[in-house]
Amino acid sequence: MSEILLQIDGKEVKAKEGMTVLEAARSVEISIPTLCHHEKLEPYGACRICVVEIDGRGRSNLAAACVTPVAEGLVVRTRSEKVDKTRRILLELFLAHAPDSPILKDLAQEYGADKDRFAKEASFCILCGLCVRYCAEVAKKNAIGFIERGASREISFIPQIVSQECRKCKGCFSLCPTEALQAAYHLTEALTFPLSSCEPESEK
Ligand code: SF4
Ligand code: FES
Repeated sequence: MSEILLQIDGKEVKAKEGMTVLEAARSVEISIPTLCHHEKLEPYGACRICVVEIDGRGRSNLAAACVTPVAEGLVVRTRSEKVDKTRRILLELFLAHAPDSPILKDLAQEYGADKDRFAKEASFCILCGLCVRYCAEVAKKNAIGFIERGASREISFIPQIVSQECRKCKGCFSLCPTEALQAAYHLTEALTFPLSSCEPESEK
């Protein structure tokens, strides 16, 4: 595999063909925030919080680092006025859905995002897709998926699969950057198995 030289935040970085800008940055301990990325899952590029500025031919473009492949001579900036402004607006939008998410609150502090800028939409889900993709790609159960489109898009558990698979797994729980997933799971469980959902966790 051939070696690729690029520059990230003024630092010469050696990467391998096929790596993403995010992987190259992390290989030299340059941190880029992510919300929909997980190393065990296929790149998805949904949240755009990993946006970076890439210079070339006299102009710069914003690109999602988690889905942008490295290329010879690329000049990348992980922090700039444009990058920070984009991340700030994205965080303000996410916070309208999940104002109490500790991950979002920490990032909001770092980027100066105002959690009250947009009217609250009590979905609690930022549609990062981590739960859906983990269940499909790693657990291989497809117990959860997206339903509806546009502003009505949301996650939904499939009760028949939940009843067979989820209690002994719950591998997606720790991935969710908000409280949406556990709430949706417990709601599905309560509606599908109204009596057993009252049992203590240890007896399930
Ligand atoms: S429930 Fe959580 S993990 Fe799943 S898409 Fe929504 S925010 Fe992401
Ligand atoms: S982490 Fe790159 S788009 Fe979400």
